[in-house]
Amino acid sequence: MAESSSGLRRRRWWRSATTRVLAGVATVAATATVLVTAPGADAAASTLGAAAAQSGRYFGTAIAGSRLSNSAYTTIAAREFNMVTAENEMKPDATEPNQNQFNFSAGDQIYNWAVSHGSKVRGHTLAWHAQQPGWMQNMGGSNLRNAMINHIQKVMAHYQGKLAYWDVVNEAFNEDGSRRSSNLQSTGNDWIEVAFRTARAADPSTKLCYNDYNIDNWSYGKTQGVYRMVQDFKSRGVPIDCVGLQSHFTGGSSVPGNFQQTISSFAALGVDVALTEVDVTNANTSQYSALTQACMNVARCVGITVWGVRDSDSWRSSESPLLFDGNGNKKSAYNSVLNALNAGGTTTTPTTTPTGSTTPTTPTTTTTTPGGGSCTATLSAGQSWGDRYNLNVSVSGSSSWTVTMNVPSPARISSTWNISATWPSSQVLVATPNGSGNNWGVTIMANGNWNWPSVSCSAS
Ligand code: XIL
Repeated sequence: MAESSSGLRRRRWWRSATTRVLAGVATVAATATVLVTAPGADAAASTLGAAAAQSGRYFGTAIAGSRLSNSAYTTIAAREFNMVTAENEMKPDATEPNQNQFNFSAGDQIYNWAVSHGSKVRGHTLAWHAQQPGWMQNMGGSNLRNAMINHIQKVMAHYQGKLAYWDVVNEAFNEDGSRRSSNLQSTGNDWIEVAFRTARAADPSTKLCYNDYNIDNWSYGKTQGVYRMVQDFKSRGVPIDCVGLQSHFTGGSSVPGNFQQTISSFAALGVDVALTEVDVTNANTSQYSALTQACMNVARCVGITVWGVRDSDSWRSSESPLLFDGNGNKKSAYNSVLNALNAGGTTTTPTTTPTGSTTPTTPTTTTTTPGGGSCTATLSAGQSWGDRYNLNVSVSGSSSWTVTMNVPSPARISSTWNISATWPSSQVLVATPNGSGNNWGVTIMANGNWNWPSVSCSAS
């Protein structure tokens, strides 16, 4: 392995900079450090996923397995999004059609498509009153409670270590903030916390979310009901990591003026917040812009997912609520979202590492030359936050490269942009070009380990 001269210069620069700053200071400290600004970090990104990634966020879509054979659909989906939710294929009726007989073929198809296009996956959903298989609909009491626990254990075991988030429980509240009556609710008021505790034990690597609609308006009863539950869970140590606001601004609802207050209020409880199923009647540009801005303004709003690719793919297609029209053209709402993502990503570059974190320490530039080809992958720091940081990767020397990135445990890559990706393990990313050029990047959840990954580059 050789190292390019620019890599050596960069490494020497880094060493001398960090030596100056860290001299005499314990490695874990709130140390003032000048981060390397990504080359071109001020340039506007041209896809939703890349624009969101500038601020460590993702931009996702629901994917329907039945449409993966449509190349117009997959071209847009692969280009624009770096998070995928299966629209129906990971719901209980799909994954457990007969009791204790599991079928993951449809869910796996979407999972495999997503990761091979550099995307992460949100699991949706484990416990819900709707889209239950027939055998479950007729159950109650301890039989249903046990069936729910078994379902969560088996489905999460199948996807163990693979999903960024799981919607553990979906839509469990009434509009007035009381619990929705359902067969699950009838098993006992503790069913939601049992679901979350079961989920944590089944896969500790995945963030566990509560997901619901009509919890966008801070002064609404349902919002307050869900808020009180999350507050209660956090105070009693029931494992919950995130709240998903479905954000269906269709079917007669619209973005409330206090939407950002809702997002920041949930975030202040110590959970991630995500907008998980966004659609807006007639794709109103100011509403799309406002909801994106609201997320960008809250540090723990981790990403936005729209509920489908083109209007013709929407579950509410008559309202034309998505960012692409039926012919795959970008609508004006697309531009308003892209602009909001680009604006938010470039206004808050910190010049200090967050309290409690350490400086990323091992920028690595590596060249390998199998098969006569040669390439160099150079890492540079992007933005960083209290829990995560962006790394920019620039590849030179070849346009048909493969970069392997090893992330030091327990850090995890939580999103990527401008690459096709495969994941030999949860710590290893294999990146190849996806037509977006040679500059790409990753967001890494540090989980306490801020050492940079090692990379190697091979060219064919
Ligand atoms: C919807 C799907 O989009 C439809 O294809 C399906 O027929 C019904 O479910 N809240 C949710 C999603 O959490 O799972 C729902 O998805 C939309 C409302």
